Amino acid sequence: MSFSQKMKDFFSKRTTVQKGGGDKALEKQVAMGKLTARDRIMTLLDKDSFHEYDLFVEHKCQDFDMGKKSLAADGVITGTGKISGHPVCIFAQDFTVAGGSLGLMHAKKITKIMDHAMKLGIPLIGINDSGGARIQEGVNSLAGYGEIFYRNTLASGVIPQISVILGPCAGGAVYSPALTDFVFVVDNISKMFITGPEVIKTVLGEEISMEDLGGAKVHTTITGNAHFFAKSEIECFDQIKKLVTFIPWNNRKKADNFPPKLPRASFEIEKIIPADPSQPYDIRNVIKSLSDDSDFFEIQEHWAANIVIGFARMNGITIGVVGNQPLVLAGVLDVDSSDKAARFIRFCDAFNIPLLTLVDLPGYLPGVDQEHAGVIRHGAKLLYAYSEASVPKVTVILRKAYGGGYIAMCSRHLGADFVFAWPTAEIAVMGPEGAANIIFRAEIAGAADPNAMRKQKVAEYTEKFANPYIAAANGHVDAVIAPKETREYVIHAIEISEHKSDPRPRKKHGIPPF
Ligand code: HXC
Repeated sequence: MSFSQKMKDFFSKRTTVQKGGGDKALEKQVAMGKLTARDRIMTLLDKDSFHEYDLFVEHKCQDFDMGKKSLAADGVITGTGKISGHPVCIFAQDFTVAGGSLGLMHAKKITKIMDHAMKLGIPLIGINDSGGARIQEGVNSLAGYGEIFYRNTLASGVIPQISVILGPCAGGAVYSPALTDFVFVVDNISKMFITGPEVIKTVLGEEISMEDLGGAKVHTTITGNAHFFAKSEIECFDQIKKLVTFIPWNNRKKADNFPPKLPRASFEIEKIIPADPSQPYDIRNVIKSLSDDSDFFEIQEHWAANIVIGFARMNGITIGVVGNQPLVLAGVLDVDSSDKAARFIRFCDAFNIPLLTLVDLPGYLPGVDQEHAGVIRHGAKLLYAYSEASVPKVTVILRKAYGGGYIAMCSRHLGADFVFAWPTAEIAVMGPEGAANIIFRAEIAGAADPNAMRKQKVAEYTEKFANPYIAAANGHVDAVIAPKETREYVIHAIEISEHKSDPRPRKKHGIPPF
């Protein structure tokens, strides 16, 4: 064959394989409102930055007539590229090829790009759109999943791992995304479940749609399995592009610094918190009044909304923010909010991102439901995560900090480097009402007018204990500061902690209350 014929043959072969399942299957994919696997990669990555590997990989299965079938690229596209100049490893399952099902060679392509990501020290992005284990390949496809889960676990805390669910993700296949750091879902497109509607109908006799069982809304509002909800694939890719700007390439690096910006004038910190301590407010406004350009990139916005987590920048430095949300359940800690914050704290700690904690909570949510759901075990995760974290930790107590909530929200006692409190802070074992009812019970009961006496005792307790000065007098709070001084204090604390070293006792690993 002449050189020019070889070239012609090569381009023809490459184009054919790059078409995946062929024109008809690609049209079907687009008709479902989905981008094709290749278009997804091209849309997400910087223009002309994608380099593909293993395009000509073929499956080896001979059973069920598979020997006669060629599956383009074995149903998954893998390669490297860049997002806003940041290098990434990426794979995208191609539903047009055997439903994106995972056979042995498909899995080998994924594990190869995962190994690259680990060696190169760059984030891994996985786009999932698959019917699950390739049924014809039997145990070999199960083996493939196992190899992926193993690498997800080894890579955890070493490189950021991002999962994008853009189609079905069923059976044990959901456990790879579940092992990764951030899961992105898109309305009407993403589906995640262990057992599908048909199995549920057979076993339990219950009818449920795929959407109601494990659609995007379910996983961003009820289960907490997904971190970001988007209305379209394009919006989802924009979210990923933004996330990548906040996180470092790997655990040996820090996130990029950006040019510092002032918060926008529309967020006036002194006007956010109501004078009446029983009135709620949106903690996100406090975060925006502190952050560069008032930009706050919230994570898991629609789940366990009584705690708010996300990334912001202060003086150009990426920080992870955890704040109680007085707008939802008065900002109490419960099972889900503890899980949500604990995992985020561990991500920030693993990837050298300083933590800012904003405190305003009446404590843990009381009740049989919470006790029986394991609030002791789940709540302990938060204590563990804060205590374990050795990144710079700055805490600001805005208003209520009662009881276990005070300790759990990155108090000095869990290793906060700097604890600041506003003059509005109320740091006490419990709220004035509860405290007065207990310690002045006899006086209230014996009074001619018990209600008037209760009011008087609550006022006395509030006056004496519901303030930041006792904690400050004991050194549990480093400085009582005016709200408008907060940004400057936090920036100084984080900048001064740049080279913080806080080694932990030598051990193989701790045993957090998973
Ligand atoms: C082989 C598969 C496949 C699979 C789909 N296909 N899933 N091939 N193995 N797991 C093929 C179909 O045969 C079809 O091929 C093509 O992909 C498109 O599938 P359709 O069914 O036509 O698509 P759609 O109607 O959109 O339905 C999508 C679907 C459905 C809901 C995902 O295909 C489905 O229920 N598939 C099986 C899902 C499943 O039970 N997987 C195993 C889960 S257990 P043709 O040639 O007709 O185009 C598992 C264990 C993992 O994954 C354990 C890890 C530890």
